[in-house]
Amino acid sequence: MKVLITGSHGQLGMEIQKQLRLGYSEIGPIPEKLKNATVLAVDLDELDITNRTAVVDFVRRHQPDAIINCAAFTNVDGCETNTDAAFKANAIGPRNLAIAAEKAGARLVHVSTDYVFSGRENGEIPQDETCLPGPISAYGNTKLLGEKYVQEFCRRHFIVRTAWLYSYYGKNFVKTMVNAGRKVGALEVVNDQKGNPTNAVDLAHHILKLVVSHEYGIYHCTGEGVCSWYDFASEIIRLSGVNATVSPCTSAQYKAKHPASADRPAWSALENRMLRCTVGDEMRPWQQALACFFEHWDGENGMK
Ligand SMILES: NC(=O)c1ccc[n+]([C@@H]2O[C@H](COP(=O)([O-])OP(=O)(O)OC[C@H]3O[C@@H](n4cnc5c(N)ncnc54)[C@H](OP(=O)(O)O)[C@@H]3O)[C@@H](O)[C@H]2O)c1
Repeated sequence: MKVLITGSHGQLGMEIQKQLRLGYSEIGPIPEKLKNATVLAVDLDELDITNRTAVVDFVRRHQPDAIINCAAFTNVDGCETNTDAAFKANAIGPRNLAIAAEKAGARLVHVSTDYVFSGRENGEIPQDETCLPGPISAYGNTKLLGEKYVQEFCRRHFIVRTAWLYSYYGKNFVKTMVNAGRKVGALEVVNDQKGNPTNAVDLAHHILKLVVSHEYGIYHCTGEGVCSWYDFASEIIRLSGVNATVSPCTSAQYKAKHPASADRPAWSALENRMLRCTVGDEMRPWQQALACFFEHWDGENGMK
């Protein structure tokens, strides 16, 4: 099998490459079909997904069986001020990959986000794949359009929505909390936005299981269980052993201090129903996946 990974230098792209190279992850082995896979891993410098001609040419030349799109403009606040760039990377990029995948007869895994939901539905029930999106930020809007284009232009697609992602590689909330905790010793974290922290190990593991299946469709793929950013930060500081305090604040208090920040859904918890009902997979509870991260993280930008 030949697999093309776009956005390969990012958190998820790096983790998927690692699992394909090793043949297993902390959770278990990768599917047999992928054990001797040819992996083409490209990032912005080699393949800019916003360039339709380049994407179609690249896919035609290499004829991958599967494309896993990990490329995106993921800076949620940055998307508010740089809307064109967000639109290109998050909507036009996936459209180009969908067109190219369809022409080549390849399947496409496109990674999306919990921020396609408004977070206002509430009822405190995690949202499954039947729930209607209604984004409230430029990031969420552009990611939702990317999903629509993938559905429209590539028949064999998997849209995999994840949330609150962290990894050994790149920048993320876990590393930010540990570093800030070391530096300032007192953290103030929003307590009225709830969601599902997700370890990239788990996301990559389940994406690799899906990509060899024929179970096309929309998936939610997040750590099991719901918490606030404050709960998440408290657990990070406890597991890291960093000597810091964590106190709760409201989104309104945070916004007053960071007026340019994007609005985020108050309730973006997802239910992984499709995973359970198709390939029969359960995600690990977020606390267990986070503890596993701290067992393996080298404290910098990789694994022990
Ligand atoms: N991070 C989260 O908390 C989170 C939550 C929910 C969903 N997601 C989704 O999960 C997926 C993976 O996220 P991640 O955290 O792994 O992202 P990431 O670490 O930000 O990596 C994204 C990669 O894509 C590259 N890229 C950006 N624009 C590109 C373009 N036009 N062409 C090719 N490559 C491009 C980036 O390069 P540069 O760094 O040079 O820009 C980066 O290497 C994304 O679809 C994201 O929307 C993430």
